[in-house]
Amino acid sequence: MTHPLQSRSLLVVLSVAAFAGLASPLPARATEEPPAVTPCAAKSFKFDKVKAACTEGGRSAAKKLMKGVVKKAKAAGGDVNCKTCHTSLKTFALTKDAHTKLGKWL
Ligand code: HEC
Repeated sequence: MTHPLQSRSLLVVLSVAAFAGLASPLPARATEEPPAVTPCAAKSFKFDKVKAACTEGGRSAAKKLMKGVVKKAKAAGGDVNCKTCHTSLKTFALTKDAHTKLGKWL
């Protein structure tokens, strides 16, 4: 005889445990090999969102965030692309007003 309720609560326990594992990285992780991500070049950030993206996923996460910004700005009628705020798409050097502009759309 099976106990559908029991197995369902086991599933709940398992997914809660999995989520907790994701939400709070164990100290043991520090000794593991770091994932192969290209870190952001910037050492200090004006925007927490960019900082968080860089901390969590390096350049590729930052790019993803930026793509969202471009999408949002375009939807608002702006003629925006990466070069609106970055003088180079290699170093991602910023234009003078990049921070002001990003503040509007982030
Ligand atoms: C509205 C202005 C703006 C646009 C458009 C924009 N960026 Fe950015 N981007 C910034 C600013 C400002 C920063 C630095 C954020 C900070 O200091 O918190 C940044 C940071 C970055 C970084 C991190 C750089 C590093 O290594 O330190 C990457 C990568 C990046 N942008 C990629 C892109 C890409 C790819 C696009 C196009 C899809 C894009 N950005 C479009 C303003 C912009």
